[in-house]
Amino acid sequence: MSTGSQRTLVLLKPDAVRRSLVGEIISRIERKAGWQITALELRSLTQDVLEQHYGEHKGKPFYEPLVEFMSSGPVVALVVEGERVIEGVRTLAGPTDPIAATPGSIRGDFGTIVRENLIHASDSEESAERELKIFFPGLA
Ligand code: TYD
Ligand code: MG
Repeated sequence: MSTGSQRTLVLLKPDAVRRSLVGEIISRIERKAGWQITALELRSLTQDVLEQHYGEHKGKPFYEPLVEFMSSGPVVALVVEGERVIEGVRTLAGPTDPIAATPGSIRGDFGTIVRENLIHASDSEESAERELKIFFPGLA
């Protein structure tokens, strides 16, 4: 368990944007005490960015459809800062499979399909550092 202020990368995936769930999801993040959104942008992801971001999954059966889905429309990319925010946003999101995710979590409340699970959040300090460089290279 990590303590102290951290930064994490959050992506609201194309399904969240298409289904107008951006405000709902951001508001859940914003309401956590002391967390701050410090960057936010609607953008379309290139194949190059997706290959870097999901490099660990390259070669797996779900990789190609995942990349296709992630480029099917714009995403909202955010940087969130605050106390234990890396673990905290993963908890708000719920597990990868939305059917296994508890109601009350973002994936548990709004998702059914594993691929279309609404939100990405960095899973460790190392991942956060790597992913923030891909999406927000200008950040200090
Ligand atoms: P993963 O990093 O395992 O999950 P998480 O987003 O919870 O960190 O997988 C990345 C994404 O790939 C996941 O959010 C949805 C998609 N995916 C599938 O489509 N099928 C699968 O079987 C898995 C494991 C993931
Ligand atoms: Mg992951």
